[in-house]
Amino acid sequence: MKKNFWYKKKILITGIDGFVGSNLAKKLLSLRANIYGIVQKKNKKSLLYFEKLNNKCKLFIGDLTNQKFTSRILKNNFEIIFHLAAQVEVGVANKGPYKTWESNIRGTYTILDNLIGNKKIKSIILASSDKSYGTYPKSLLPYKETYSSRAVYPYDVSKACADMIGQSYASELFKLPIITTRFSNIYGPGQLHFSALIPDIMKSIILNKIFIPRGDGSDLRDYVYIDDIVDLYLLLSKNLYLNQNLRGEIFNAGVNKPIKVKEVIKKFYLSRNKNEEFKLILKLMKSKKSKGEIPFQYMDYKKLKKYFGWQPKYEFKDTINNVFDWYEKYFNKNII
Ligand SMILES: NC(=O)c1ccc[n+]([C@@H]2O[C@H](COP(=O)([O-])OP(=O)(O)OC[C@H]3O[C@@H](n4cnc5c(N)ncnc54)[C@H](O)[C@@H]3O)[C@@H](O)[C@H]2O)c1
Repeated sequence: MKKNFWYKKKILITGIDGFVGSNLAKKLLSLRANIYGIVQKKNKKSLLYFEKLNNKCKLFIGDLTNQKFTSRILKNNFEIIFHLAAQVEVGVANKGPYKTWESNIRGTYTILDNLIGNKKIKSIILASSDKSYGTYPKSLLPYKETYSSRAVYPYDVSKACADMIGQSYASELFKLPIITTRFSNIYGPGQLHFSALIPDIMKSIILNKIFIPRGDGSDLRDYVYIDDIVDLYLLLSKNLYLNQNLRGEIFNAGVNKPIKVKEVIKKFYLSRNKNEEFKLILKLMKSKKSKGEIPFQYMDYKKLKKYFGWQPKYEFKDTINNVFDWYEKYFNKNII
C-alpha cells in the first residue's frame, strides 16, 4: 500500500468512543495512522467497541478534567490532536449544568494548558458547535464565523466558552496550532444518544416504540452526514499541519439546507412506509413546545469552500438506507 499523509502519524483523539470520535478513528486506522484515545470509562456499546476498533488503538481510561491524568498522556508528544470529548446531551445540561461545565470547559483548558510550549504539536482541531452561536433571528441565518456568541442555554454556553478558550490558546500569547470547528447537527452510524433526533427515530422505527416528540416539530435544523464530517476533519487537520498560518481559524459547516424537525421525522418514517405512525406523531406534536433549545439553526460552508473547495457530498436521500442498515445491525446485538 502507498504511504499517505496519515501513515504512522501519532494522533490523539479525545472522546474517541463517542459518535464522531469512533468514526474518525475508523477512518484514520484505515489510513494506518497510530491512534491513541482518551476514554472516560469503557463504553462497550460504542461503535469503537461494536466494530472492534478498540483493539487497534491505544486507549487511556480516565477523566480529561483530571490534570495529572491528562498531563501524563500528553507526555506522549502527539503531533496531531482532535479534541472532541464533551458532555453533549442538551437535556442533561438543562437539568443540571455542572458536569457539562466541567467536561466541556475545564476539559478544554486542561488539555490545552498542558500543550503550552510543546514543540511537537502541529495540529489541534477543537470541536465547537453551531450551538455556541446561541439564538439569532432567522433573518441573520445562516450563521457566519464572525458572529459573536449569544448563547444562553447551558450546553450552548459550555461550547461557547470552550470555543473562546481555544481562541485564547491560539493567540499570539500561546500560539497553539488550533482550528475551531462549528458544525451543525451530525448524524449517521454510531450516534448512540437516544435523546438526539435521528437515533430516537431509529429506535422508534426499528424497535417499534412510540416516538415521543420534544416540541411541535417546527424547529429548523441542518443535518450533515458523519462521512462528510470525518473527511472534513482530515482536510482541516492536514492543512493546519502543513500550514501553521491557519492557526486560530474558525470554520462553520453544514449542508445549508434548513429543515424542520417534523420533516426529518417524515423522511425516515415514510421511507419505511410508516405513514399512519407519522400521522400519530404529528398529533402528539400539536400540544408540545420545546424548552431550552434554539429555534432556528443552520450553517453554510462558504468559508470552507473558499479556502479548500470543500462541500458536503451527502444528503438525506443518499444516506437513509445506510443509517437504517447500521442501526438494525446494532440493535440485533445490543439491548438499549
Ligand atoms: N454530534 C453532533 O451533532 C455535533 C454537532 C456539532 C458539534 N459536535 C461536537 O463534536 C464533539 C463530539 O460529539 P459526539 O456527537 O461524538 O458526542 P459523544 O457524546 O458521542 O462523544 C463525546 C465523548 O466525550 C467523552 N467525554 C465527555 N466528558 C469527558 C471527560 N470529562 N473526560 C473524558 N471523556 C469525556 C464521552 O464519554 C463521549 O464518549 C463534541 O465536542 C460536540 O460538542 C457534535
